[in-house]
Amino acid sequence: MVLDSWQMGFSGVSYHSMSLFCAPWKLVAFALLLTCRSVHPRSFDQSYACGPGYDHFPFCNRGLSVESRVSDLLSRLLLEEKLGQLVSSAANISRLGIPAYYWWSEALHGLSDNGPGVRFGDDIPAVTIFPQVILSTASFNRTLWNLIAQAVSTEARAMYNVGQAGLTYWSPNINIFRDPRWGRGQETPGEDPFVSSEYAVAYVCGLQGQEYNEDLRHLTILNGRSSMQNTLKVAACCKHFTAYDLEAWGGYTRYTFDALVTLQDLVETYHPPFKSCIQEAQAMCVMCSYNRLNGVPTCADNHLLSNLVREEWGLKGYVTSDCDAVAVVYEYIGYAASPEDAVADCLNAGMDLNCGTYVSRHAAVALERGIVNVSTIDKALSNLFGLRMQLGLFDGDPKAQPFGLIGPEAVCADIHRQLALEAAKQGLVLLKNEARTLPFFAGHIKKVAVIGPHANSSDDMLLGDYAGPPCITITPLEGLQTFADTIYTPGCIDVACVSDSLVEAATEVVSVADAVIIFAGLDKSEEREDHDRTKLFLPGQQQNLISKVANAAVGPVVLVILSGGPVDVVFARDNPKVQSIVWAGYPGEAGGQAIAELIFGEFSPGGRLPMTWYPESFTQVPMTDMNMRPNPSRGYPGRTHRFYRGDTVFKFGHGLTYMDISETFSSVPTEIYLPICMDPFSVNMLRMNPTPSTCQVPDDHFNNNVDHGAGFNVSMQVRNRGSRGGSYTVLLFSKSQTGDVRLPQQQLVDFKRVNLEPNGGAEVSFFLNPYKHLTVVNEYGKRVLNLGPHVLVVNAQVEHTVSIKLAEAKGNRCC
Ligand SMILES: *[C@@H]1O[C@H](CO)[C@@H](O)[C@H](O)[C@H]1NC(C)=O
Ligand SMILES: *[C@@H]1O[C@H](CO)[C@@H](O)[C@H](O)[C@H]1NC(C)=O
Ligand SMILES: *[C@@H]1O[C@H](CO)[C@@H](O)[C@H](O)[C@H]1NC(C)=O
Ligand SMILES: *[C@@H]1O[C@H](CO)[C@@H](O)[C@H](O)[C@H]1NC(C)=O
Ligand SMILES: *[C@@H]1O[C@H](CO)[C@@H](O)[C@H](O)[C@H]1NC(C)=O
Repeated sequence: MVLDSWQMGFSGVSYHSMSLFCAPWKLVAFALLLTCRSVHPRSFDQSYACGPGYDHFPFCNRGLSVESRVSDLLSRLLLEEKLGQLVSSAANISRLGIPAYYWWSEALHGLSDNGPGVRFGDDIPAVTIFPQVILSTASFNRTLWNLIAQAVSTEARAMYNVGQAGLTYWSPNINIFRDPRWGRGQETPGEDPFVSSEYAVAYVCGLQGQEYNEDLRHLTILNGRSSMQNTLKVAACCKHFTAYDLEAWGGYTRYTFDALVTLQDLVETYHPPFKSCIQEAQAMCVMCSYNRLNGVPTCADNHLLSNLVREEWGLKGYVTSDCDAVAVVYEYIGYAASPEDAVADCLNAGMDLNCGTYVSRHAAVALERGIVNVSTIDKALSNLFGLRMQLGLFDGDPKAQPFGLIGPEAVCADIHRQLALEAAKQGLVLLKNEARTLPFFAGHIKKVAVIGPHANSSDDMLLGDYAGPPCITITPLEGLQTFADTIYTPGCIDVACVSDSLVEAATEVVSVADAVIIFAGLDKSEEREDHDRTKLFLPGQQQNLISKVANAAVGPVVLVILSGGPVDVVFARDNPKVQSIVWAGYPGEAGGQAIAELIFGEFSPGGRLPMTWYPESFTQVPMTDMNMRPNPSRGYPGRTHRFYRGDTVFKFGHGLTYMDISETFSSVPTEIYLPICMDPFSVNMLRMNPTPSTCQVPDDHFNNNVDHGAGFNVSMQVRNRGSRGGSYTVLLFSKSQTGDVRLPQQQLVDFKRVNLEPNGGAEVSFFLNPYKHLTVVNEYGKRVLNLGPHVLVVNAQVEHTVSIKLAEAKGNRCC
């Protein structure tokens, strides 16, 4: 049904809808439509609005406010024309000189043509592909995240200027990486809500061309809101709102899955990245997801889209649906009674744009039936046209605009390709390094046996989801060849490695090598959009290959794992013949070089895992269980480093270095007095933990980094006694001292990456706002602060206790 509706396309749009391309796979259902690459318009319309002959319209007048330009434009549109604008491939309005516009473009870690807004070829055939997000996140370097986004949006503007891309990008993906099996966990900044929030702010500011100050972690919009017509570089989109992190598992699919989530988990875990994305980074878009939240499809949820996103968080731009998520409301879920009811539900809930065609085809009937009204449609159109105007899409020739001078030479520029290499190097995580086997010295290790299909891999194995054609790709094999002689043998035919037919040959070559480097892990055949894993073990015969090769090796053995999600490699972790393990995520176009440089000691690794590596036994947990907290009575272990107390393969935050580091707290108070009174009611509000007593934090105390008189500095001395320098990542946690499983066992308070000289040191300071950093969320979705001792822990090693007390306890007047 949905497929047919796609095939009908929308007559007002001048390009072939992607469904024509996908039609042969009719039986595979429309799921495929959403993941296969789109076919591009026969003749991509390069013309622009408000060009010669049309620039006399008031809506083209840059001297007017966006509001008045929008209302002028709306006053000129026929109803039919309006309905053609509510979909991702917005129709042309030729009588007003307005070309078609393709809203759907992607910029997750470089541009990609998953949506029809981006088209490679002609002037720009390839772009810089940075590491997949999960690996860049492992750098814990906000400046890096911001610079990547700046580079990506510069390439986007270059593409736009030559008519190969739009200016609305549906990135980043900031859903919490809740379950290790999730096929799209690779696209996200990991499992921790604080890290995801920080990533969202850094990345969105970079994309949108807003100033970003890492130290203040706070941005200032260059110009005031009303005069920012031309200041947005591109518009980012925070997706997928909300509680979306399941593709297809155990008979459930993302299209119909009903995520049952407590208010506590929403406020504490699922929503903070979105809140930061909108409030702090002022992202211009939110995408509602396919799944339902507690019974209601998110795109039809007025509370979520209007009350929370638009009013409470203050979204200024638009809400788009995920692709065909409106059709799903009726066709797949049956939540609405008819197609036009689904359309009305979503528009009335506050969705402005439908990725797909459903709204343009069913809105007229909805209007006739009176279940949606024109003012609701006008409100959506104001959000959409208002943004297009702010992006400069109604200012005539792009080349005459502020970003108009960015030419094709900006794409794949040296500085961008260097940054792609730098990002991979900063993200790589050294998981195991027995007896300091790494780094290798080129003088000692002259000949290496290189094993595994990834080592000489096609782009796909190095780039991950949502990647366009890269400028260049450096395979691991090519990278290693610059340091040593190599003997390469794949060991497995492909990543699935169903057969062990090549294992024997691999064990034979290792005896003539000084060292062995095995590449193993996953690729898009194992984890991707629409495909979750069912196992955490390495696929097929990979484990067998690694064990046999390690056993046969005479020299040291290094295992390099390429994967987005975690894999259970306990067998290798505990095997003394595998001396070193490196996690390389999907390292992007320069990944092979970064890996080789790490192995041969060109730099010291500083990445840390942004997600827990669970053992295979975790697969007994239903992927559909959204609860963060453990429930011992039903054997549910809880999720993420904050709640999961079971065995791990490697912990969140794990990551080794070549340096010789020691850390101490140099200055931290032992007591902090809060200048507020305890609301006696709040003691009951927490319920789960009546002692020590708690303070309910007034909502405004949680915002921003305002200290409200109770902030304090935590300073650390980090010393490197090693003879090589490098960069080092400090993660500061607060730990719960109670054994209460309803409280997080630890929370990430902040993180900082610093550069250390050989035999050098650095002072690392964190400013802590107790209301923001030391609170937990109670069952009513309120932030509460436990009074009494809080234990601060750095990198799971050094501890310090700070006690939170009320000012009145010191005899001060409060409130
Ligand atoms: C505008 O859309 C109409 C209707 O789909 C189409 O016939 C026409 O070719 C389009 N015009 C341009 C300039 O793309
Ligand atoms: C249009 O619909 C919205 C949402 O249902 C409603 O709030 C509003 O009052 C309606 N406006 C008119 C003019 O009927
Ligand atoms: C690596 O792959 C390329 C392209 O698939 C192939 O031509 C080449 O022979 C391979 N290299 C080795 C050493 O097997
Ligand atoms: C924390 O440190 C910063 C920077 O050194 C300083 O400006 C600020 O006053 C300190 N705050 C407190 C509460 O000590
Ligand atoms: C963070 O990333 C930026 C950009 O690559 C880099 O210049 C800086 O040195 C990095 N910081 C650390 C401490 O590694």
